[in-house]
Amino acid sequence: MELGVATGDVTRVETQALVVNLYQGIGKPGGATAAIDKALEGQITALIEEGEITGALEEITIVHTAGRLPARRIVVVGLGKKEECDLEALRKAMGAATRRLLKHQITRFHTILHGGGDLDATGATPRELAQALAESAILAAYRWDRKTVAPADEPGEIHERDKAALQSVVVVEKDGRKRQAIQRGLDRGERLARAVTYTRDLGNQPPNEMTPVRLAEEARRLAREHDLGCRVFNKGELERMGMGGILAVGQGSGNEPRMIVLRYKGGRDKDRPVAVVGKAITFDTGGISIKPSASMEEMKFDKMGGCAVLGILKAAALLELKLNLIGVVPSAENMPSGTAYRPGDILKSYSGKTIEIVNTDAEGRLVLADALSWAVQQKPREIIDLATLTGACVVALGHYASGVFGDERMVARLEEIGVATGDRAWRLPIYPEFGDDMKSEVADIKNSGGRWGGASTAAAFLKFFVDDGTPWAHLDIAGTAWTTKSKGYTPWGATGAGVRLVTEYLAARP
Ligand code: BES
Ligand code: MN
Ligand code: ZN
Repeated sequence: MELGVATGDVTRVETQALVVNLYQGIGKPGGATAAIDKALEGQITALIEEGEITGALEEITIVHTAGRLPARRIVVVGLGKKEECDLEALRKAMGAATRRLLKHQITRFHTILHGGGDLDATGATPRELAQALAESAILAAYRWDRKTVAPADEPGEIHERDKAALQSVVVVEKDGRKRQAIQRGLDRGERLARAVTYTRDLGNQPPNEMTPVRLAEEARRLAREHDLGCRVFNKGELERMGMGGILAVGQGSGNEPRMIVLRYKGGRDKDRPVAVVGKAITFDTGGISIKPSASMEEMKFDKMGGCAVLGILKAAALLELKLNLIGVVPSAENMPSGTAYRPGDILKSYSGKTIEIVNTDAEGRLVLADALSWAVQQKPREIIDLATLTGACVVALGHYASGVFGDERMVARLEEIGVATGDRAWRLPIYPEFGDDMKSEVADIKNSGGRWGGASTAAAFLKFFVDDGTPWAHLDIAGTAWTTKSKGYTPWGATGAGVRLVTEYLAARP
């Protein structure tokens, strides 16, 4: 995959397709689009007048140039209203253009730097615009499947994921002074996007293959590739350590649980690390408190918090972030069986605190309780956890933002970066009353506070296991970690939610 910059005039570029843009409600195109329009003898203006091009966000119009320009096709992508245009709108537009071109088997194309002619429309620098462009093109081009069906024109051949994969995107820029900034932005966007597609790849693996043991092997491979520290705790070690939460959740499955620890060193020896903790339930049936069958197959995505942690460590290594990180991934499979844990059980967690089980489907918080107490012991300066933790969070925010809870300062910063990256997070409370809902008659805490405020009672449960003053933020990614409809730069399946958000959060730390 090539991402580059060419300095020159858009009307001179020889290419299969050149992507230009139009804001909504603008009758006469400006900038590069105007130059193209002129060479096409006003064809774009005519299409606008006919109402065929409106500039609505993600609208795609393909115009064949029939020899009037060295570019074979002009792709006009709508950016929406100029006053509403931000980096996220540009990502959506570029994502839509990329997906359409790939659909037509066009894997190499040129584009202008969207938003580049109107710096004040987005307030972004050329580097930021180029980063958004690279991120969205790569993320939109992503796909994952195990189909063996041959494409009609290639009988018998195995359909490979890379068949219509993106090969080359070149930004055409007339101002040579911007070249370096654009190339830097493209490069950074590519690295971030690679970490996201890596997370998506892990997440999309089916649960018969991606077991806790396999995920741990994958973490070891990642560590070798990027020179990270890696330690995997097996079942015997978890027993000796007293990791009662992870063990209980995993005890009903033939696939043993694991706890994965990764270390990235980009700071000085004495710098306290940031701990990033992720829930990795490789399949969540609900256990004895079994879930209904409808959509249960989606519960293979219950490992996305852990997959995001692996992606964040990969991103840190690719971007050479100047800080130390510890990734902690408690992983188990939640199955019902004769050996499964049950409602009524009382567990002893790694912290020593006892937990009454009232619902075996509230398993994520149990593996996180152990992992969070272990993370606290490492004396990090901050802890961030990511988990597909509650259906209640999906009810509250739908699929359009992760829930974020915890330390005021961290939450505010994550919300801000959520807006900038489009990997959104929305603040939800952990009032003391939510903690009261988790009180048990027979143990230090129970694992479910009932139906109401389920995202917040779950967060209150986690807080009980980090409450030693370490600044901590919890991201509930249950609604954002996967999607069942392709949109913008996010195709069907695992989305990689949280990877860009947390990586940019870490990169922006002083
Ligand atoms: N993994 C689920 C949360 C979930 C549900 C994510 C639906 C995405 C879509 C989690 O383990 C779970 O089952 N939570 C229960 C908690 C309840 C039993 C207290 C829930 O949200 O219903
Ligand atoms: Mn569950
Ligand atoms: Zn779960």
